[in-house]
Amino acid sequence: MSDPISSPLSRRDFLSTSAKLGAVIASAPYISRAAEVGAARNGDTVNIAIIGCGVEGTILYNAAKNIPDIRFVAVCDIWPYNLTSTERRLKAFKQDVKPFEDYREMLATVKELDAVVIATPDFMHAEHTNAALKAGKHVYCEKLMSNTVAGARSMVQTARETKKLLQIGHQRRSNPRYLHARDKIVRDARMLGRITNISGQWHRAVTDDFGVPKNQQMSAEKLAKYGYANMHEYRNWRWFKKYAGGVVSDLGAHQIDVYNWMLGANPRMCIASGGVDYYKTHEWYDNAIGIYEYPTKDGIVRATYEVLTTTSAGGGYHEYFMGDEGALKMSENPKFTKLYREARAPEWDQFVTQKLISRPDSGEGATAGLKPWDKPRQRLAIPSKVPVGASAGGPAKVDVRETAQLSAWDIPVTLDKAIHQPHLENFFDAMRKGASLNCPGEDAFATTVTVLKVNEAIAAQKMLTFAPTDFVA
Ligand SMILES: NC(=O)c1ccc[n+]([C@@H]2O[C@H](COP(=O)([O-])OP(=O)(O)OC[C@H]3O[C@@H](n4cnc5c(N)ncnc54)[C@H](O)[C@@H]3O)[C@@H](O)[C@H]2O)c1
Repeated sequence: MSDPISSPLSRRDFLSTSAKLGAVIASAPYISRAAEVGAARNGDTVNIAIIGCGVEGTILYNAAKNIPDIRFVAVCDIWPYNLTSTERRLKAFKQDVKPFEDYREMLATVKELDAVVIATPDFMHAEHTNAALKAGKHVYCEKLMSNTVAGARSMVQTARETKKLLQIGHQRRSNPRYLHARDKIVRDARMLGRITNISGQWHRAVTDDFGVPKNQQMSAEKLAKYGYANMHEYRNWRWFKKYAGGVVSDLGAHQIDVYNWMLGANPRMCIASGGVDYYKTHEWYDNAIGIYEYPTKDGIVRATYEVLTTTSAGGGYHEYFMGDEGALKMSENPKFTKLYREARAPEWDQFVTQKLISRPDSGEGATAGLKPWDKPRQRLAIPSKVPVGASAGGPAKVDVRETAQLSAWDIPVTLDKAIHQPHLENFFDAMRKGASLNCPGEDAFATTVTVLKVNEAIAAQKMLTFAPTDFVA
């Protein structure tokens, strides 16, 4: 579980302060390790089912296929088109899956099931997750945790009651490059100095709405049974208010989650602007721009976030953390990732060398058991000598430390597997070995509250504030 360490309003601090003040924290600490609840299955095969076999369900099973000792035993989807193709592909991969239209029937009849992966539209996450947890299964559920705060809260509470694991699919939290950036660059070495600002964006070109392949319509009765108005809304659920939270939830959720995670803090206010300015067939805003203020122990961090779905101009998608000594541009796409050093940063190379190489756990013989990105050789986030003219746009003659320009560096940690795989591995490690979840429901709840506030602020057309208690489920 991410461990907030840098903010005066981190969850841990908030909880202890609240307790001192006599505030009522009704719930027990969230269970983020299966070992704590006696459910570790160290070394065992884990039997899983998938509910929701669309685009993301397919991505997840393709990633899970690469993880040893995972057995697919069932798949569930209301659309025969997706259900049969997933069943066929998994059977081709020698996984003897049983197909189901109704998740209740699946949970009631597939006795050997250990865990359920949920990749249905957001408005179904609470129902599917709560049912699976109550049936005694651990759950990996996709983001956004829910399209409502109440739905997300119910998921955390059910996980607590059932003592089952609940991991939410904010997969950047398990990406070794992101972990290296947060744990080594930002926290251990403080290479950004004092973080003052964050900007983040996802700029995507115009896309057409999804259509329906020939002869693959579902009947009006069947659609109504599962809560869909018609086939168009069923296919394009993310743009309609009943089913999802629009662009800030669909794309922004990943990145706003990283703001909270990197700072170990939750914001105290939000203002936003947005609208349905372009698309004729969408209910949700097609662009949204939000501003948050985060209180941290180093001072206020002001953060902007911008999601546009009508242009890919301006550099794709990234989260940019800016401090008085350096800046870090993170992205799930490694080509957008960069570390920048301010010319004023004192002795950065030496600082990094000392800070990162002399850590107690990096001594000779101490590397066994460390994750690959922890190994000393890779631990050097930047070269030990600052090269001349590193980023001045060509072979400059001056030492970048003497110019006013930022010097740019690559982060040497790479991900050599599918981007969702480490997050799934972390979920299975929590089940089998008692590892801590990287995104337990409790953390994702705080993200859900943060993300959905943008839509609220756009509608309210004014600044909205958060109370620390808003982030506690
Ligand atoms: N983590 C990521 O990077 C990432 C990327 C894309 C999508 N997602 C998330 O994954 C989820 C699914 O998104 P998608 O793009 O795959 O959508 P999709 O429309 O392609 O797939 C959704 C699937 O769920 C099925 N479904 C709908 N209602 C159901 C029900 N009641 N019971 C069983 N099956 C049902 C649909 O038939 C469809 O096959 C969303 O929550 C989305 O936010 C996450």
